[in-house]
Amino acid sequence: MQPAHLKGDEYPAAGFAFGGEPLYLQIAGKTLKPPVETALSIRTKLIALIFAGVLVPLGAALAYSTWQEVHTLRRDLVSESLLIGRIVSDYSASALNFEDQHSAEESLRSLSKHQDLLFGALYDASGARFAEWHSGASAEPPVRLDANAPAIDLSDPYLDTVHPVVRADTRYGTLYLRASTASLSARTRRYLWNVAGLGLGMAVFAFAFAFALRRVVSLPITRLSDATRQVTRNNDYSVRVQKLSDDEIGQLSDDFNTMVAEIARTQNELVRKERLAAVGELSAVMAHEVRNALGVVFNSLEALRRRSAPEAPEVRSLLDMVGEEADRLNRIVEDLLDFARPNPPRREATAIEQVIASAVEVASCTVPPARFRIATEVDPGLPPLQIDERMIRQALINLLINALQAMPTGGSVTVRANPARVEGRAFAQVEVSDDGPGMTSEVEARLFQPFFTTKATGTGLGLAVVRRFVEAHSGQVTVRSKKGDGSTFIMMLPLDVRALQSVS
Ligand SMILES: Nc1ncnc2c1ncn2[C@@H]1O[C@H](COP(=O)(O)OP(=O)(O)OP(=O)(O)O)[C@@H](O)[C@H]1O
Ligand SMILES: [Mg+2]
Repeated sequence: MQPAHLKGDEYPAAGFAFGGEPLYLQIAGKTLKPPVETALSIRTKLIALIFAGVLVPLGAALAYSTWQEVHTLRRDLVSESLLIGRIVSDYSASALNFEDQHSAEESLRSLSKHQDLLFGALYDASGARFAEWHSGASAEPPVRLDANAPAIDLSDPYLDTVHPVVRADTRYGTLYLRASTASLSARTRRYLWNVAGLGLGMAVFAFAFAFALRRVVSLPITRLSDATRQVTRNNDYSVRVQKLSDDEIGQLSDDFNTMVAEIARTQNELVRKERLAAVGELSAVMAHEVRNALGVVFNSLEALRRRSAPEAPEVRSLLDMVGEEADRLNRIVEDLLDFARPNPPRREATAIEQVIASAVEVASCTVPPARFRIATEVDPGLPPLQIDERMIRQALINLLINALQAMPTGGSVTVRANPARVEGRAFAQVEVSDDGPGMTSEVEARLFQPFFTTKATGTGLGLAVVRRFVEAHSGQVTVRSKKGDGSTFIMMLPLDVRALQSVS
């Protein structure tokens, strides 16, 4: 299904069609649909597949072996009966020939050794019963033998066999044996029970197997699909799926988590960039106008100072007040321009120690020096940095002023610079720490947003400018702070000159 708001040729190269149901993967402008839409869950399909794949062939194999086994049992009974019949009829030929009933009964008595036999009878050439043996009263052989009786008749519960008594091509009579198929049926039943037990065992095993597979295969996929739905329906990018295994599905979970984090990051970045662009446009126009007006104010102030009589101190102090406020306005305009100006940094090899010293000097002028102590610790092994000195000095000034302003009754600030290594890359780690009141997590989350301030006279641009300058150097600025326990701002400036050149 193609989302209504996109025409075929408007699809991105690859991505998901958000909004609207269902969700299909799009690659190179093509929407990939599942071949068949079914309402069956993966779990049901798995169980059905395992049943079909394991139980059907196994059932067929068991049915075939059962049929074969029953067939073999019946064939064995028939062959045993035929063999006994042949032996007894061989022994009975002379008894029939000499009409010796005693010998005939003697040879028939040997049948009692065979459990399944119910009776045996010898008939003379005319078909009349000559001698008989039977295992019980209920088993009585017929008086005359039906001339058309089949040689073998296996129709449960009896097996009847008819054996001609022949010697030297002369037929003397017939031997008729009847065996019971009860033990054959009992063995068949036992076999069938075993097969049924085996089949049931296999079904239980297949079910347990399908259940285990569900944990391994369908459960992680179901979780992934639930998480995807939550992302697309609620735009909730904080969703993460738990990795349950180290296989392809585990990898898929990892990839999903990375993808969602990346989407969230890109979205935040997009919002930030849009905000920056809007602020940049507005500030460029505003700064231009305000600067023109300020130029007139500064010139007029100078002219007024020259003309005012030295004996009118109240006029001078008023003029100084106007001058200070005009200076403050000028600084705000500078900050705005720094923040909005997209100039790339002009890098030069610079000793960070000098930049720190110069920033400390500027920042100290903003507070009464007696109440503050600013210490500097620079690792002598730190090489000169390829930086825009003005930008990094300004960033340090902003951090230092914030640190000093956080401690209105005084305190100490430490600036440290050390070499550091992160994921194999070399950095200069420049930190500004104070022992002020620290900040809450809410303040920390919004620190770097332009115009965020908790101060009555602040513009909220100081840290936005710091971030802007550090990122222009392909670096990163972070904060470590706890309410009541001071704050440390950390700038990570890359030392890898080749990487810097490729960025700038
Ligand atoms: N060292 C610090 N200790 C505690 N809070 C701080 C510290 N540095 C910054 N903050 C908090 O971060 C907020 C934003 O700082 P940011 O420098 O961007 O603006 P600002 O100092 O308020 O105004 P300005 O534009 O004049 O610098 C501050 O208002 C303050 O609440
Ligand atoms: Mg500030």
